[in-house]
Amino acid sequence: MPSTIAVAAVMLLSAVVYSQSVGDVAVSAPDIYPPDGTFTGELEVKFVANQPHANIYWTKNGDVPTNASRLYEGPFTLFEPGTYLIQAIAVPKTGNLENSVVRNRTYTILKSEVPIPTVSPAKGKYRGQVVAQLLAPAEVSSNPNAKIQFVIDVDDPGNTWQTYTAPIVLDTPGEHIIKSRIVISGAEGKSPKISPTARYRFEITSPLVYDVTTECAKCEKTPTVGQVFTVWLQNPEVNSIMKLTTSSRGCELDRHMLDDTKPTKIKHRQVAYRFVTYTEPQPKVYVCLQEPSHPNQTFIMVPRRLKSSAQGVGDNYFAIEPAFGAIKKQQTEKPYDGPTHQPFAERSNFSMAFILLFAFLVLVLFATCTTMGRLFKGRQHHRIPRATVVHDDDA
Ligand SMILES: *[C@@H]1O[C@H](CO)[C@@H](O)[C@H](O)[C@H]1NC(C)=O
Ligand SMILES: *[C@@H]1O[C@H](CO)[C@@H](O)[C@H](O)[C@H]1NC(C)=O
Ligand SMILES: *[C@@H]1O[C@H](CO)[C@@H](O)[C@H](O)[C@H]1NC(C)=O
Repeated sequence: MPSTIAVAAVMLLSAVVYSQSVGDVAVSAPDIYPPDGTFTGELEVKFVANQPHANIYWTKNGDVPTNASRLYEGPFTLFEPGTYLIQAIAVPKTGNLENSVVRNRTYTILKSEVPIPTVSPAKGKYRGQVVAQLLAPAEVSSNPNAKIQFVIDVDDPGNTWQTYTAPIVLDTPGEHIIKSRIVISGAEGKSPKISPTARYRFEITSPLVYDVTTECAKCEKTPTVGQVFTVWLQNPEVNSIMKLTTSSRGCELDRHMLDDTKPTKIKHRQVAYRFVTYTEPQPKVYVCLQEPSHPNQTFIMVPRRLKSSAQGVGDNYFAIEPAFGAIKKQQTEKPYDGPTHQPFAERSNFSMAFILLFAFLVLVLFATCTTMGRLFKGRQHHRIPRATVVHDDDA
């Protein structure tokens, strides 16, 4: 009997040990920063994962977080005045580990007397560059004593604040933090009122350099009106949308598309798109891409890599040159001015002058008809349909 109890005890013990070592081990909970407290204006909240291969889910309304809660993707900001209970849980991505315990923080956000500036577009991840605008909220935007100040990538602004006058271009890949505040200068001798500092984090990913090249078998250099040319793209994201625009402002919405081209979905990592433009030459054609990984970003121009240098980036446009040599030559010939005028004022014979004038008019008429005829014939001969043909080579 005692041996049976001993065997049972050992089995129970090993079952407990087994379940603890395999089934019941929980992943480590994330840390939440900053510590509990009261903040004025806004607060950026950050989680630090203590466990690889785990997702962090969180809530801010008191609900216990689960794998159905919001997935943590990066620091977030609390703006609205109020009290928040932030709770976070780590959930293993694979394996049989248990979810972590729930961590929590309590923050109180107080409304600031002077509101913080806002930013447009929203902070976040952008490809190549972002042009960020700082805006004063309505309640201070008409106040002539209010101004927006900012610094970029400065930990402690001190007295390095700059007055905001124009949109800020961020184009260096990496993380950038715009700190911004509103200062309302007081009357003589009074100290200014200053808003809390807003922090806007932008992540700039490397610019598009997809080796856009154009190739035209029958053209001397760049694409030419009436000749098929190819746009090569190396390694664009599959399902990107490409379009060719001719706007001086680059990749606007669906305006100023090259002739009749339409936005084209890219289906392969290596693509060659063939075009023929039958209308005017174009000084600047932009290759614009919208990538699925940046769905809300408008189309961006794709710079061309310079052939001559490994890192150099060329212009972000190419030209379509005027048409065939023949047409060009004819058009650049000195235009026909009509016969040169002979001074006939000294001729005394009026009828002679009249006959000469008549003959001259006939000549002019004849010359005009001939020129028109030639031009018309020439145009007919070179008439080409107004359309652009697009082929998608699944290279
Ligand atoms: C979420 O967790 C539950 C158990 O807690 C599990 O049954 C479910 O499959 C999980 N869902 C996902 C999408 O992981
Ligand atoms: C927050 O976490 C602490 C332990 O860190 C715990 O004692 C407390 O009950 C938690 N609060 C809520 C609302 O879950
Ligand atoms: C993209 O825009 C749509 C609507 O404009 C919005 O609902 C969605 O949340 C945005 N997505 C991202 C990732 O910003």
